[in-house]
Amino acid sequence: MQRVLIIGATSAIAEATARLYAERGARLHLVARNRPKLDAIADDLLVRGAPEVTHAALDVGDFSAHAAVIDEAWRALGDVDVVLVAHGTLPDQAACESSVDTALAEFAVNGTSTIALLTLIANRMQTAGRGTIAVISSVAGDRGRASNYLYGSAKAAVSTFLSGLRQRMAKHGVDVVTIKPGFVDTPMTRDFKKGALWAKPEVIAEGIVHAVDKGRPVAYLPWFWFGVMTIIRCIPEFLFKRLSL
Ligand SMILES: NC(=O)c1ccc[n+]([C@@H]2O[C@H](COP(=O)([O-])OP(=O)(O)OC[C@H]3O[C@@H](n4cnc5c(N)ncnc54)[C@H](OP(=O)(O)O)[C@@H]3O)[C@@H](O)[C@H]2O)c1
Repeated sequence: MQRVLIIGATSAIAEATARLYAERGARLHLVARNRPKLDAIADDLLVRGAPEVTHAALDVGDFSAHAAVIDEAWRALGDVDVVLVAHGTLPDQAACESSVDTALAEFAVNGTSTIALLTLIANRMQTAGRGTIAVISSVAGDRGRASNYLYGSAKAAVSTFLSGLRQRMAKHGVDVVTIKPGFVDTPMTRDFKKGALWAKPEVIAEGIVHAVDKGRPVAYLPWFWFGVMTIIRCIPEFLFKRLSL
């Protein structure tokens, strides 16, 4: 039986992923800030086949609470096979440009809080000498764009942190999986006009579980985003700065 810890468990992508683990009979511990939503998701996962689902509340911006929440997760699960870190916000880029406080608060939620949590989690996993840490970054971290570079830079920090963490943890039998979704139809993107490049959270969830099972270092989801981002990364700066992407 797999034991799975999910942080940001009320996210649409995380919930869809948790359902797949529940259907496999995994034991889950969920962490998110919205208690009523956590209760509802936990009940649903029990119905779908999870033998036991525990949960804890955490606003990831409350860094002083991180250690206790991670301790509690390990106490609840005993040992952890898979960690999925999924929380995030899509900041208002214009607001981040006009307020240093807003920019730093958004960077904290999307970047620093993930790095802080992973620092605690990695030490636990290193001691166990097994398991997988999967983190939802974004294709937005592959190149800064005028329309969302605060978000992109936080995700870039997470992706680069994960690259180093993967190298460190490889010597300790722990896989580190960087998940890079493209456009996903979730509450985060509810105001966006959807088109051909958009995916449903259930599709991303299948990709996450597959990448974790295979211990893939980096998973672009859906797969075609690898090609899209390879092209976008190759555009020279003198040209890129003239584009509106
Ligand atoms: N949707 C996309 O197009 C897309 C693309 C690439 C990457 N991603 C990434 O995918 C991940 C999941 O996002 P999603 O698309 O599933 O969106 P979502 O359904 O809006 O989920 C975002 C989650 O983050 C949580 N969260 C935000 N601020 C938090 C805080 N301070 N403390 C604790 N939890 C907090 C939210 O909690 P509440 O429920 O309490 O608000 C929510 O559960 C995020 O890391 C996102 O950056 C999304």
